[in-house]
Amino acid sequence: MSETARLILDGKEYEFPVITGAENEKAIDISKLRATTGYITLDYGFKNTGSTQSAITYLDGENGILRYRGYTIEELAEKASFLEVSYLLIYGELPNTKQLSYFQESITHHTLVHENMKSFFEAFPPGAHPMGMLSSMISSLSTFYPDSQNPNRSVVDIEKTIHRLIAKLPTLAAQAYKHNMGHPIVYPSNDLDYCGNFLKMMFALPTEDYEANPIVESALNKLLILHADHEQNCSAATVRVVGSSQANLFSSVSAGIAALWGPLHGGANQAVIEMLESIKEDGGNLQKWVDKAKDKTDSFRLMGFGHRVYKNFDPRAKIIKKAADEVLAQLGVDDPVLDIAKELEQVALNDPYFVERGLYPNVDFYSGIIYRALNIPTDMFTVMFALGRLPGWIAQWKEMHENNEPIGRPRQVYIGANERSYLPIDQRG
Ligand code: CMC
Repeated sequence: MSETARLILDGKEYEFPVITGAENEKAIDISKLRATTGYITLDYGFKNTGSTQSAITYLDGENGILRYRGYTIEELAEKASFLEVSYLLIYGELPNTKQLSYFQESITHHTLVHENMKSFFEAFPPGAHPMGMLSSMISSLSTFYPDSQNPNRSVVDIEKTIHRLIAKLPTLAAQAYKHNMGHPIVYPSNDLDYCGNFLKMMFALPTEDYEANPIVESALNKLLILHADHEQNCSAATVRVVGSSQANLFSSVSAGIAALWGPLHGGANQAVIEMLESIKEDGGNLQKWVDKAKDKTDSFRLMGFGHRVYKNFDPRAKIIKKAADEVLAQLGVDDPVLDIAKELEQVALNDPYFVERGLYPNVDFYSGIIYRALNIPTDMFTVMFALGRLPGWIAQWKEMHENNEPIGRPRQVYIGANERSYLPIDQRG
């Protein structure tokens, strides 16, 4: 007999089916709760709410496990290319040679963006945050490709939109950087692979030849893979909810970029480096900053610490910490901020406040240090996260449609004023 959960409300007993996932995770299916009982659930921040059944990413926060379509993040980061992982996330299987070469070819040939977009960049003020520019630019892609707005388009047309988006995000990200530098944009090169092309668009100058450093290229490939998906996080959930209204993929991903920007999500990588620099400038008194983070009257938090689902360790942070050491050594970079990061980690990990709450360094704690070593400016860190997360957002959007999921529309418990009469202005208190 299949398992059920019993709920007693107002002396009446109700039964709800129990759903068991592929890794034995358990969920109570309450989709008929309101219809049968008149009650809804209340769950701020969706801490206990499964919004879907997904086959994309498996995450076990207690044991620090993260797998894309069954493959461990450790193995993929070590052996795969970012485009292979993108294919895996979006289509469900690793590509064979023919599939990968078609995918790469298609991505390579959609990298150009419409020349009119240059005037959008010109209109942004100098120093505009690149995440604000990126989110606007990605949303505006839907206006250049009106076919993407048709909710009933064919699988082939959806595929074209997906390839366009993967191809154009790096072009637009690099253009946002060039805008802030005041440098001419560098057009994409079809003879380079994904990471090589992006680095060239970022760092090539018309005055000199450019060749990407293979160490930098390989570190970038690893970072993008580590960020590629993370199941129902804030931005992925946003992409799914926006997409559930049948909004087009470009607009849905633009909303995901906005969600990622916040310092509690992807924006933490920028906030971490800014925090570490402030600690250094303040004389390096780590205990003072740890005490500040523990003080409930102070809103300061140790950025890069804690995670909604990892309460033991973040497997991505483990890989990134090792990669940070390797990349800095290979590039001969001596970054004092890395030393502060390591010391801070030790102070926090030995403090009962952090241990009791399961607050460990997350993926963003060390990623900024690698980005600095790769010469990526601090305000571009979250853009780098977005580049990595894109295949995950696409996979989530596609799966949500393939599952025929209904429009996302949570309920609420109303706690405002009861019905009252409108009073003329002279009779109000
Ligand atoms: N520093 C100090 N205290 C913290 C921190 C922190 N970084 N994170 C959580 N806490 C405390 C929090 O005050 C609360 O304490 P208490 O139980 O006494 O009220 C307890 O730990 C639980 O925190 P929470 O806010 O209820 O946990 P959450 O699951 O809602 O939030 C989080 C998770 C990631 C938003 C939070 O840990 C945080 O703000 N971390 C810093 C920002 C950060 O690094 N974000 C990047 C996350 S990784 C990238 C990504 O995947 O998005």
